[in-house]
Amino acid sequence: MISVAIDGPAGAGKSTISRTAAKELGFIYVDTGALYRAVGLKFLNDGYNTDLLCDIDAVLADTKVDIRFIDGEQRVFLGELDVSDKIRTPEVSMMASAVSAKPEVRAYLLEMQRRLARDNNVLMDGRDIGTVVLPDATVKIFLTASAEDRANRRYKELIEKGQEVTFEEVYEDMVKRDYKDSHRAIAPLKPADDAVIADTTGNEFEQSLALILKIVREKAGI
Ligand code: DC
Repeated sequence: MISVAIDGPAGAGKSTISRTAAKELGFIYVDTGALYRAVGLKFLNDGYNTDLLCDIDAVLADTKVDIRFIDGEQRVFLGELDVSDKIRTPEVSMMASAVSAKPEVRAYLLEMQRRLARDNNVLMDGRDIGTVVLPDATVKIFLTASAEDRANRRYKELIEKGQEVTFEEVYEDMVKRDYKDSHRAIAPLKPADDAVIADTTGNEFEQSLALILKIVREKAGI
């Protein structure tokens, strides 16, 4: 099986580029951030805030997160509920970042991610795919862009979805989340030693997509 690990900070265009690249390659696309978001939503539903003053394992014992592919698209389920759309709010973003710093949560999601890569040609995006989840991935890419570029992209996405946010709020959230994601003790966001760094600052989508496909094809020899 061929596995492509794409890691990088929020808003670098990882998921859009990865989804399209996977389709082009005929691989399944796994958005691992969605798994952390679904876990974050569960903690929010249970009434906790980002302080997470609770027994994490007890909440996880009562959590069932699942990925299903419907018409080739990844959908994320919390229990029997498709929460794929519900997990795209700023509130869930902050909660996902908080729960993702908990070793219990990372352990809880690890095996599911590895299994998907064992059974399929996969393009998986996240923060620690090349460093922790799939250390033997065929291709590792660290996809990044300037904070302004990334905040701008996320801001436009949220506005398109009809959410009421300002650019400043999105930018501040982004910088805060970057800091937390890359400074946490466990599985911090950083490029794997053998990752190719792809900087998409100022790129049009098509340019970034072409760059990623070129790296994958060269490295995987396909
Ligand atoms: O990519 P995203 O914005 O959907 O990710 C949501 C949060 O989950 C983000 O703050 C970092 C965390 N995450 C992680 O720690 N490890 C991953 N493999 C994917 C996401």
